Amino acid sequence: MDAVNQQVRLAARPHGLPKPGDWEMTEEPVGEPGEGEVLIRVDYLSLDPAMRGWMNDARSYIPPVGLGEVMRAGGAGEVVASRHPAIAVGDHVTGITGVQEYATLPGDAVIKVDLDLAPLPVYLGTLGMPGMTAYFGLLEVGRPQEGDTVVVSGAAGAVGGVVGQIAKLKGCRVVGIAGGEEKCAHVLDTLGFDATIDYKSEVVVKELRRHCPDGIDVYFDNVGGEILDAALANLNRHARVVICGAISQYNATEAMQGPANYMSLLVNRASMTGFLVFDYADRYAQAAREMAGWMADGRLKTFEDVATGGVANFHDTLLRLFRGENTGKLVLQVSGA
Ligand SMILES: NC(=O)c1ccc[n+]([C@@H]2O[C@H](COP(=O)([O-])OP(=O)(O)OC[C@H]3O[C@@H](n4cnc5c(N)ncnc54)[C@H](OP(=O)(O)O)[C@@H]3O)[C@@H](O)[C@H]2O)c1
Repeated sequence: MDAVNQQVRLAARPHGLPKPGDWEMTEEPVGEPGEGEVLIRVDYLSLDPAMRGWMNDARSYIPPVGLGEVMRAGGAGEVVASRHPAIAVGDHVTGITGVQEYATLPGDAVIKVDLDLAPLPVYLGTLGMPGMTAYFGLLEVGRPQEGDTVVVSGAAGAVGGVVGQIAKLKGCRVVGIAGGEEKCAHVLDTLGFDATIDYKSEVVVKELRRHCPDGIDVYFDNVGGEILDAALANLNRHARVVICGAISQYNATEAMQGPANYMSLLVNRASMTGFLVFDYADRYAQAAREMAGWMADGRLKTFEDVATGGVANFHDTLLRLFRGENTGKLVLQVSGA
């Protein structure tokens, strides 16, 4: 194949927010897949808050991206060459493609997707990793019961928006916390939450008390920091706190802010549980089928925020997550951009 593969490599480990100089753009000829592999033209990349953690040289649930390596990223695209018996040229797939225009992956490591059911970006969002995070984090760890009060932070984002909608489907009262009037209006009017709190202009601890007079039964935390503390201060008896993420702390240059109000767990006989979506990988297909059904009958809405500009726009697009500039799942269009 004559095509050239543009790539973004990690050149330096960021201190605080990533800077343009933390990346190196490289190009390579596009190779042929080996036995059992597929060559994918990457059409969309998934931009995830977790990427910030993968840049740190620290022990985590996955090894850090090495200096000089192509930045790790989920992606979706079309198979342009295949040496895998179950995957044909023209199939659409998702996988860990990295921030590049073409990816060669083992065929067993990609998931075939059906564009008749949903467009490709949805498979990086509601029917992909963030949707699975919402589904398993809420249902398996949060264990909402009908009539419960569920609070979710990052409520206008890829995970939070789906968490709140599933909680509504399960008969809960749902309060979303998001940044800014426009996002709160989206969460209330479009996603159908019962109430919202704009953490940028309101005092969260006070508003939680007002909106959750009987206390919070499930708090799904995407942001950590002060908002987690405000939720802890408003728990109901036997509440479940799902620690999904802590985006407010990912670019901290000093020690992360931990929860001061953790004694509320004791007082309320509550639990706070860390959760990782990858532990549920063998159940993704069943969850995606159920969620696709909810989407088809209009009970689950999906929002993708599609940035353009190809891999050259990776750095600026990534920062949008930390500036709160995305609504719904942030993806970067790569091919045809
Ligand atoms: N545990 C797991 O397996 C797993 C899997 C996937 C994702 N996650 C975590 O889930 C969380 C949400 O991920 P996502 O992909 O759905 O991202 P997202 O919510 O679509 O995008 C990030 C949002 O975070 C909010 N934010 C940014 N800085 C903030 C701050 N300082 N304080 C409060 N909010 C801030 C912004 O919304 P506002 O404008 O509202 O501030 C921004 O739009 C992240 O913490 C992520 O790491 C965990």
